[in-house]
Amino acid sequence: MDTKQIIRGLKDWVKREKGIDFHLNACQEAILEYSLQNIAYANMDNLGYAVDTIKNNTGPDLFKRLSEVTDRKVSKKNCFLTLPRLLEHPSSEEDTENNLLRIDLREAPVPKDFYGRVEELSKLETWIVNEHCPLVGVFGMGGIGKTPLLRKFVDKVKDKFDYIIWKKLEYSPFLEDFLTHIESYFPANNLEKNPHKKNIPQRILSLISFLNQHRCLLIFDNWEKLMATDEISEDQQKRNYFNYGKFLESVATLEHQSCVVFVSLQTHQQMDIADKSRVRRLTLTGLNNQDSQYILKNFKLSEKGRERLIKQYQGHPSALEFAAQHIQNNYNGEIDDFLKGTFFIHDVITDLFDKHISGLSNIELNIVGKLVYETEPMSLPEIYQLFPSISQAKIGQAIDKLCTDGLIARDDSQRLPTFCIVHPLLIKYIKRRFPKKDD
Ligand SMILES: Nc1ncnc2c1ncn2[C@@H]1O[C@H](COP(=O)(O)OP(=O)(O)O)[C@@H](O)[C@H]1O
Ligand SMILES: [Mg+2]
Repeated sequence: MDTKQIIRGLKDWVKREKGIDFHLNACQEAILEYSLQNIAYANMDNLGYAVDTIKNNTGPDLFKRLSEVTDRKVSKKNCFLTLPRLLEHPSSEEDTENNLLRIDLREAPVPKDFYGRVEELSKLETWIVNEHCPLVGVFGMGGIGKTPLLRKFVDKVKDKFDYIIWKKLEYSPFLEDFLTHIESYFPANNLEKNPHKKNIPQRILSLISFLNQHRCLLIFDNWEKLMATDEISEDQQKRNYFNYGKFLESVATLEHQSCVVFVSLQTHQQMDIADKSRVRRLTLTGLNNQDSQYILKNFKLSEKGRERLIKQYQGHPSALEFAAQHIQNNYNGEIDDFLKGTFFIHDVITDLFDKHISGLSNIELNIVGKLVYETEPMSLPEIYQLFPSISQAKIGQAIDKLCTDGLIARDDSQRLPTFCIVHPLLIKYIKRRFPKKDD
């Protein structure tokens, strides 16, 4: 869809859904057209209006109106995603003989070279294909390889499902919008005349009944975006957390033959309360030495120092790729020379960690900020002592969540389990982010 088609489609949508004419004047239309192309306000100096007026008045007013009329948060930043989504329907050329899209990987990444993860792939296959587990969460630090793992998994099990739908969550849709999108895959005879008139619990039930009639694999990547603080207000965030919790609860508890996989930096509380026999959690850690070596083979690097480099990044594939590129470009590929310098963390990795950290609760942040300075792993009773004013139950839950998220590691080899932050990348990042108070 080009920008003009989107604007036309939007006007039709408002007419159809709201029964009103949605009129934009020439300036508003031009701002929207430019915004859909991701053009900054500063570059809208050829519209015949002062850029300041556009930036401070006309533009913000326009997006406020768009949000009101679509019942969605439409901003300059996200309009190129939210508006096409609003109008989205499976396109006819991709329909099958039943007028349905059965495998939709349009939002999945193109498969690339993929190494290892044999154990993880086998776990997913056992849970999803053999045991018909209805709800699976895949977690781990940003850049650890969650998305490529799921992409590989889909290729492996493609013929075991009637439907495979991959959704990459790029913004924070309300559950209503999310359901509307998923409903667009339903066979016509499952669709009520107007699904939007039904309330959320009824719509979830319809979805589950579809998941019961067909064997579907629904993959929701970047699930953490649903709760992204920079996109939605705190109230909306709470509403999303609650509603999506209800959705997960239904997927986990009601009878059906499908599987929902959510791929995320962070787990959802609902995963903890759901029946353990119906949900599975997989937390990814780094690649092993051999598979990390395969990653390094794509770069011109000295043979010497490879193992130390892998150890330094503990097989974090993305961090390794960035470091290897940096060594190739700036150290003529000499790993030892690179390792003599300060710990290198690429900005992209820092951004990924920033996003992860911004989604943590205060208790979780406090625990991470303290544990990072502990030289020895700590047992739960020892951690309780660090936070005498916080209830032990809350600390226990926070530790459990941080372990699932892959931020702290649990060691069960002692009499009591112990916890610590082991990943050198994380240690470096967290220390930079939370310098020791008495330093
Ligand atoms: N098993 C793997 N084999 C090869 N490359 C991998 C593997 N896992 C991750 N990578 C590389 O690391 C990058 C980071 O993965 P990414 O999709 O950012 O992880 P995540 O989804 O956990 O944030 C990928 O684009 C890919 O280049
Ligand atoms: Mg990903």
